[in-house]
Amino acid sequence: MNTLDDIVAHALAEFAAISEPAKLEEAKARYLGKTGQITEQMKTLGKLPPEEKKTVGAAINAAKNKVEEALNARRESLKRVALEAQLTSEALDVTLPGRSEQRGGLHPVTRSLERIEALFASIGFAVADGPEIEDDFHNFTALNTPEDHPARSMHDTFYLQNPDGSVADKVLLRTHTSPIQARYMQAHVARYGHLTHMPEIRIIAPGRVYRVDSDATHSPMFHQVEGLWVGEDVSFADLKGVIADFLRSFFETDDLNVRFRPSFFPFTEPSAEIDVAFISGALKGRWLEIAGCGMVHPNVLKIAGIDPEKYTGFAFGFGPDRLTMLRYGVNDLRLFFEGDLRFLRQFA
Ligand code: DAH
Repeated sequence: MNTLDDIVAHALAEFAAISEPAKLEEAKARYLGKTGQITEQMKTLGKLPPEEKKTVGAAINAAKNKVEEALNARRESLKRVALEAQLTSEALDVTLPGRSEQRGGLHPVTRSLERIEALFASIGFAVADGPEIEDDFHNFTALNTPEDHPARSMHDTFYLQNPDGSVADKVLLRTHTSPIQARYMQAHVARYGHLTHMPEIRIIAPGRVYRVDSDATHSPMFHQVEGLWVGEDVSFADLKGVIADFLRSFFETDDLNVRFRPSFFPFTEPSAEIDVAFISGALKGRWLEIAGCGMVHPNVLKIAGIDPEKYTGFAFGFGPDRLTMLRYGVNDLRLFFEGDLRFLRQFA
């Protein structure tokens, strides 16, 4: 039979040789378990005479403590080894660049729209809105463009379809932001028309518009900013001043010529096209068409319920996409709407 010292020596050697925690627990059972060698030694105590019990018992306890200590020490060291292995395998390379959230940026056209809104807000223009799915009345009729008017053919209109494929009755994607003029004036009259001195209307209306058209300078969806100022003494001189001031602020330069070229729009009389020419820089000297404008046609005021004998107004319609192209030197309008991040990031 093994002496206690042998048992302890074996246990220590066995523990030291084990490198798996589960195996170590099995080895523990062989010494300290119900039928383990140390436990078997304990069981012999009962048969010993009392005077020997004490010394033998103390010796067995000492042996048991040694085995337990060795066991615990081995457990700890296996745990450390496992932890180190884990740390190595899951090592973080803190020198790698972090995966941060990507910062978004404003679309260049959005930047222009915000700029335009801010500049017009500074001279008292509020921002108005209207539906992109518009009816024939607001898009054309209320703007002095009756059913058979040739001006309707100036617009390549997207009409909506009924579920059965037929063309919906007079429902369309608005071809310009001008219907917001009509809607706003109607609402204004409904609210203030009873007053002797109706408050002025001074709004801009930025938004998307749609036409059947697509090339480097035309997209089937593009933006317009409508402007409308109606009051008791609003004149063409006011229109010229407002527009020229706006353009110089928008492009941050006084090196800018602005001209009003006679034109035709059904909803203004007289009407003009606004051209700009830069005095310096890459675009120097070329006249560029950027907006239509004019004095609000008396019929448009009348249809909205405003007395054209008492009130006058001017209106204009800008292409903010065009303005953005000029401001940033972009030569293809489609780049704005293709969603190519390599292009868009340059403005972020
Ligand atoms: N709605 C016109 C268009 O899309 C632009 C325009 C011209 C708007 C003259 C106006 C205006 O308000 O007075 O071609």
